[in-house]
Amino acid sequence: MDQQREKFSSRLGFILISAGCAIGLGNVWKFPYITGQYGGAAFVLIYILFLLILGIPIMVTELSVGRASQKSVAMSMDVLEPKGTKWHLFKYFAMAGNYVLMMFYTTVAGWMLYYFIKMSAGGFVGLDKDGIAEIFGSLLQNPTLMVGFMIAVVLIGFGICSQGLQQGVEKITKVMMLLLLLLMVILACRSLFLKGGEEGLRFYLTPDFSALKEFGIVDVLFAALGQAFFTLSIGMGAIAIFGSYIDRSRSLTGEAIFITILDTMVALMAGLIIFPACFAYGINPDAGPSLIFITLPNVFNAMPGGRLWGSLFFLFMCFAAMSTVIAVFQNIISFGTDLTKASRKKVVSINLVAIILLSLPCVLGFNILSGIQPLGEGSSILDFEDFIVSNNILPLGSVVYVLFCSMKIGWGWDNFMAEANSGKGLKFPKSIRFYIQWILPLIVLFVFIMGYKSLFF
Ligand code: PFF
Ligand code: NA
Repeated sequence: MDQQREKFSSRLGFILISAGCAIGLGNVWKFPYITGQYGGAAFVLIYILFLLILGIPIMVTELSVGRASQKSVAMSMDVLEPKGTKWHLFKYFAMAGNYVLMMFYTTVAGWMLYYFIKMSAGGFVGLDKDGIAEIFGSLLQNPTLMVGFMIAVVLIGFGICSQGLQQGVEKITKVMMLLLLLLMVILACRSLFLKGGEEGLRFYLTPDFSALKEFGIVDVLFAALGQAFFTLSIGMGAIAIFGSYIDRSRSLTGEAIFITILDTMVALMAGLIIFPACFAYGINPDAGPSLIFITLPNVFNAMPGGRLWGSLFFLFMCFAAMSTVIAVFQNIISFGTDLTKASRKKVVSINLVAIILLSLPCVLGFNILSGIQPLGEGSSILDFEDFIVSNNILPLGSVVYVLFCSMKIGWGWDNFMAEANSGKGLKFPKSIRFYIQWILPLIVLFVFIMGYKSLFF
């Protein structure tokens, strides 16, 4: 007999862990820099539209598959698919996605950890704008330092996971998320009152649709699509796993909306913290992945008690990043235990080594391997791995989930409806089947194909 499957101890646990999986570097690091690259508020609007019309329904399909199968994506479709169909092959695609995500996520999480330590040690005190930018530059040039922090992230992540679902993952993540939500509100309020920040707010909040022309509407849509899926963690079973740890007392639409609202709040607040700061300190918002690291220390330097606030800020950025790392590690560990009879301990040790090795290319891409620029002039291995996940695996994987839940030759609409709608709370509307089965996948595929065309042809 299988050992009894682990469960969350409470609904709050489920919501906060799922939010912890969703809320991460995608909100506090990627959302601000992509918004900056694509011209601000108009991008934000499209992103929110995609969350509403694509993200929420897709999240409901994923949670349903997880809850109905009681398995990770490594076995969920094997359990639910009609006999003779091949949906289960999706596992290879989805599992690969989880690994590729960690291949760059651990590096950026390591940057956050480094900044936390540097900030609390007073390493930014008295530096001007150029001195601050210099610190990030020299971090990238130092492979040993970056590898060290990347390994620390992997060790902490697996350390917490190996304590088990309730004692490790749930307990730690719950506290981290509650603190994070609180601190974001405080800092956003402070940043709003920054002198010279109004222009940043305008950039961030007043849509200027000529920006869409300037950057190319297709490119903006493609970037917003990838970011919407990335931020919600949908399309490769990372959210589905948490559906497998809950019972049927609540219907899933309300839970998906709740998670999306929390995630969106944190992203929007990160923007409120960063854009006024960019304009107040004359830093171009299109700086890319370095944005948060070269803008925010300026703000903290100029703020009374800035060293303390800055340390807290980066500590909480570590929380955001770690809660996602822990969630994805938990998912990866359950691939191992779903697919083999190996013990949790053995699965953890193998993956620990594997993920450290797999994370090396991203780290080295900024120094020793900086000649490799897979997406063209100036791009990095990090950009490439992110592109593989955000713009390929997540959108295509999401389409697979949606079709699996709506097509007769898949798990099917009736099974999906029964699962999604069992329990108290908001029900998924039966009447939008046509939209789910046809329109939604077509929107995703259309943006995907057009995006590729404009990028490469
Ligand atoms: N949602 C996470 C973030 O915003 O940082 C990233 C992520 C996690 C994406 C898990 C995809 C995933 F499966
Ligand atoms: Na997110």
